[in-house]
Amino acid sequence: MAENSDIVLDAVDRSESQKRSSETSPAKCCVNLVIYPSADSVDICLYFCYHYLQVMRFALKEVVGNLAFSKQIERGEPMDKRYRIQNVETIPSPSLVVYLAQVQYNIAHAIATVNGDVSKLRPHAKTHKTAEIIAMERDAGILKHKCATLREAEMLAQNGIADILIAYQMVGPNVNRFVSLQRRYPDADFKVIVDHPEAVTALSAAVAKYGLTIKVMLDLDVGMNRTGIPVGDAAVELYAQIEATEALQPWGLHVYDGHIHDEDVTERKAACNKSLAQIAEMQDRLAAKGLDVPLIVMGGTPTFPIYAETPGVEASPGTFVFHDNGYTTHFPDLGFTPAALLLSRVISIPTPHRITLDLGHKAIAADPAGDRGVVLNVENAEVDMQHEEHWAVNVPDSTPMHIGQEIYVCPTHICPCVALHPFYYVVDSDRYCRGTWEVTARNRTAS
Ligand SMILES: Cc1ncc(COP(=O)(O)O)c(C=O)c1O
Repeated sequence: MAENSDIVLDAVDRSESQKRSSETSPAKCCVNLVIYPSADSVDICLYFCYHYLQVMRFALKEVVGNLAFSKQIERGEPMDKRYRIQNVETIPSPSLVVYLAQVQYNIAHAIATVNGDVSKLRPHAKTHKTAEIIAMERDAGILKHKCATLREAEMLAQNGIADILIAYQMVGPNVNRFVSLQRRYPDADFKVIVDHPEAVTALSAAVAKYGLTIKVMLDLDVGMNRTGIPVGDAAVELYAQIEATEALQPWGLHVYDGHIHDEDVTERKAACNKSLAQIAEMQDRLAAKGLDVPLIVMGGTPTFPIYAETPGVEASPGTFVFHDNGYTTHFPDLGFTPAALLLSRVISIPTPHRITLDLGHKAIAADPAGDRGVVLNVENAEVDMQHEEHWAVNVPDSTPMHIGQEIYVCPTHICPCVALHPFYYVVDSDRYCRGTWEVTARNRTAS
């Protein structure tokens, strides 16, 4: 954790808090079990029961907390105390804050969702763009990642990740910049996606110059109509073109399904089954031509629990690691909890029913359309007009409020908010902030 001028990292306090967090961490409990091999069976049994109960207590606390959180947001009730920062006065505003206990919970919950099989997970780094989160995921056993920008890809390689899928079309100068990245990080195995014959030609020409071979996934459009090629003859021909190109190796299918928004789980499953049926058809067509499909990478946070059940499919959720108010309210079934908020302050109290925050759209993302976030610690607050550095919020009664009052906001969409901030203020599990993390891949350009 980098030290920041506003936050003094207290070594004694920090080791204490690490000790406390390890007491409740299920992973640590499992490790502890092996240090008593000579205890008799009763002791082992008691020891196991004790730690099992600790794990259950940890899980139960988070599950209950998460349910309460989404209900509180819905009802506009007072804020969940897990998010109140004890030394909030040391953090300037507007700021991005990340809560370690909640990030840890979300990573563990994603792994539990795929029944502990980390090989099913390829998280998208676009949400966090941060080296420390990669380290937390690596500690949990997650070693493969997806990303969108060359800077994210470089950050992953710099942090020891070998299996990196750049799920983005390389065009123009980015083709050579991609090849140069591969040459600078020979230990990393970068894969990339294509959906057009011209892209295959440009990529193969750039790669062949250096005698390299790059793995390429065909980007398939299953209904989002953003990128990708629909299932059909043209898609099969494109895959065959990759196969026939010496510098490229076909590596399977990439599918993103951001059009699936069904809140009802049964309807969401039905929509996912439609995507899976299209993929099965594509696989059959490719198999008929003798073309191999080594892997399928698909989905985001709302759909990954469904896809992960399919053999040969890796799921690529991104938002889950921080979650946000958009996903918390639309997909409560997922069971993740918000782990990153925006800290703001009251800068003006223009009327008895209005406050103005220092949280404009340069600090909280304007995507998607509609409310950009929800105020957590003022009951029945309703967000109103927003400008670059101001956000007016209507409140039942502003008279008891004061200038400089801290306001915690859960954004509708966390991923674009992260890119607006140079660093996170990091809140430990004891709710003290003691340092910052750089948003490593905030810029798009690899160094
Ligand atoms: C290609 C791709 N894969 C995966 C994801 C992750 O989706 P989510 O944000 O729902 O986790 C996204 C999100 O934008 C994406 O564009």
